[in-house]
Amino acid sequence: MKIGILTSGGDCPGLNAVIRGAVLKGDQQFEDEFIGYRDGWRGVIDDDWMTLPRRRVRGIGRIGGTILGTSRSNPFADGEDGAEIVRRQMEDNDIDGIIAIGGDGTLFTANRLFESGIPVIGVPKTVDNDLDATDYTFGFNTAVEIATESLDRLRITGDSHHRCMVAEVMGRSVGWIALHSGMAAGAHVICLPEFPLTLDEICTYVTSAFKRGRAPLVVVAEGFVPADAPEGFIDYELDEFGRPRFGGIAEVLAPLIEQRLGIESRATVLGHIQRGGEPTGYDRVLATRLGTAALDLAHQGGFGRMVALRGTDIVDVPLTEAIDSVKRVPESRWREAEVLFG
Ligand code: F6P
Repeated sequence: MKIGILTSGGDCPGLNAVIRGAVLKGDQQFEDEFIGYRDGWRGVIDDDWMTLPRRRVRGIGRIGGTILGTSRSNPFADGEDGAEIVRRQMEDNDIDGIIAIGGDGTLFTANRLFESGIPVIGVPKTVDNDLDATDYTFGFNTAVEIATESLDRLRITGDSHHRCMVAEVMGRSVGWIALHSGMAAGAHVICLPEFPLTLDEICTYVTSAFKRGRAPLVVVAEGFVPADAPEGFIDYELDEFGRPRFGGIAEVLAPLIEQRLGIESRATVLGHIQRGGEPTGYDRVLATRLGTAALDLAHQGGFGRMVALRGTDIVDVPLTEAIDSVKRVPESRWREAEVLFG
């Protein structure tokens, strides 16, 4: 077979390991040929790609980012006949199928293409871990490790100065990174979009930690808004879904805590540092398994499906399962974290 691979949406540690997994499997067992589209769907639209021989993927599994580049473009933008654009490009290059590695937007596009007859297979990716169709997404573990290490560092400087440290982690609509890194670092308050605390509750936990002689650590997901946020509380830029475009909630919370409690406070926005690292061992293995499984699926003709982790097994599910199914932090996980608060 001749397979086109692309990485689309925000980058994520482990993307290269997926590419490598698919190419190695195809080279070793099927004598497949691969091309990699540059910058996601943009490369398909603009006929911009590179060949992916086995030697090109040597050693990339442990490198963060994506050797193919990525973008958030999609072939249906501006009312274009996206399926026709992709079909023509595949015909011109004799491509038998596309492996699209991406988050909800990419998988949505992949499914739309499949419904128009394009042979596409999805591989789920997001540091946010917010895709319900798979138990974990690669990249999430790496992001949690980076965030945890950063939180440990913030605790040290916070302790020295007897300050409240407010750290913002990624997660526009879900709080998985905040929950895991906050628990790992022993945060005194974790603020998730799913279970919005009030400003009073946050201040109560901060006060209680401070009174015990601790430097309060507040971990906040970028999509968090306090339950009692007054009108105009958020004045930072929102995207088309009403989510903060660049984060900023920590910078709102820290001065507010200082003002209300008289405890000196500092904000840190971890931002893209969480996405830029080399993948952890866990993410390298998961990503490699997903890459090889995607290639197998292509040979079985399993187009319109997505590979996924269920328990410890890699399975495949219809792409439609990946769409409109955000995995939010469930209440049971929130209750487990709550014991750390204050
Ligand atoms: O969806 C993954 C994610 O990292 C979010 O957590 C974050 O809000 C967003 O992407 C950032 O996107 P961009 O890289 O386009 O600024």
